[in-house]
Amino acid sequence: KRVCLAYSGGLDTSTILKYLILEGYTVVAFLADVGQNEDFAEVEKKALALGAERMVIENLQQEFVDELIFRAIQCNAIYEDRYLLGTSLARPVIARAQVRVAHKYNCKFLSHGCTGKGNDQVRFELAWKACDPVCTIQSLPQASTARNLTKTKSLSVIAPWRMPAFFNRFQGRQDLLKFAAENGIPVSSTPKAPWSQDDNLAHCSYESGILEKPDMPAPKTVWTRTTDPLEAPDVPAKFSVTFRAGIPVKLEVEGGETVTGSLELFKALNDIAGRHGVGRIDIVESRFIGLKSRGAYDSPALTVLRLAHIDIEGMTVDSKVKQIMAWIGNEWSQCLYNGMYFSPERELLENSILFSQKHVHGTVNMMVYKGAAHVLSRSAPESNLYSEEQASMDTLEGFSPEDTTGFIAIQAIRLEKYGAAKIKQGEP
Ligand code: ARG
Ligand code: SIN
Repeated sequence: KRVCLAYSGGLDTSTILKYLILEGYTVVAFLADVGQNEDFAEVEKKALALGAERMVIENLQQEFVDELIFRAIQCNAIYEDRYLLGTSLARPVIARAQVRVAHKYNCKFLSHGCTGKGNDQVRFELAWKACDPVCTIQSLPQASTARNLTKTKSLSVIAPWRMPAFFNRFQGRQDLLKFAAENGIPVSSTPKAPWSQDDNLAHCSYESGILEKPDMPAPKTVWTRTTDPLEAPDVPAKFSVTFRAGIPVKLEVEGGETVTGSLELFKALNDIAGRHGVGRIDIVESRFIGLKSRGAYDSPALTVLRLAHIDIEGMTVDSKVKQIMAWIGNEWSQCLYNGMYFSPERELLENSILFSQKHVHGTVNMMVYKGAAHVLSRSAPESNLYSEEQASMDTLEGFSPEDTTGFIAIQAIRLEKYGAAKIKQGEP
């Protein structure tokens, strides 16, 4: 009975690790490095001290940026008009790697520490199922399934926070702390935060605890990746972002560095924008399972790149394509939020996204200052869509004003009928 557990080193997953061992499982602990601020050696030490057979840490930062984060930029991804999807974007990469690791070390089970009320359980398990189609989704392993599994090599899910034996025993933090004390689980005297945090390259999220009161502003100490805009530097930072096919390929900081690698570029922007207080989001969102939840998010680089990308699309994308892509981007965002990354619809949308980005080349000049990101100017020399001569109010180059008369008259046909009918019916 070997299980691959997504292990973070925190109190919840440490309890689960120990609990699984006491239930007779052999545990392979898995931790994905998706750019979180973490002492990985310390997590490994802890897992092994608690009795894990091994600790596997995989650096997934590059594929996270190239495959997920930059795709989100290309389609201006956003959920419910506010959330930039930081956690949703990381889950597919993590879940896929965990299935790989589980097979490599001959595990029969996959486990996570996600709560039964959240999105992440859905995302993990749907991704596991897609990456290992014979995987069994369930709360607790049935004996019969366990027997079948020895023959088939497929994986089966253990979701402790949905197992009555587990959640009845651990009803609150006090129960977890008591179990920790009894089982030699070291508990940090300075826990990271009394709320739930999910940290990766794309963002750091903050939920639960006192944040559950949506009418109370998030305490100043919540935010870990952005300076309070009120305390941000008095001098703005200026830089330019260059896109090729909708992908950021170069960052040039005024009076500073030039960065070209995707991962390095994204990290550099996180630093610059974060330092200037850009990227704070505080919302109430609709979870996939139907609950509303209040979340706070620090997403500095995502915020800046999304704005820059929308701007360069203004120069380089056809107006009708832009309209349709707004819908496509929204669908893609829903897919990601709802854990449907490994779905046919996501692949369908992705083809359209890539097509729409074929000519999105250009450079956007920006400034970040006291919590806001501004576009100052842009250029897209390879695009023929914007023409200074055509747009100019001062010349008639390539344009015959008489044509517009007919254009307006034809557009007006429906409105004329509608207006006349209203008058006839005595409506205002
Ligand atoms: N509400 C956000 C989302 O569903 C953030 C979830 C954070 N997850 C966590 N395990 N702390 O994407
Ligand atoms: C969790 O359940 O682990 C966090 C919240 C969420 O997934 O939405």
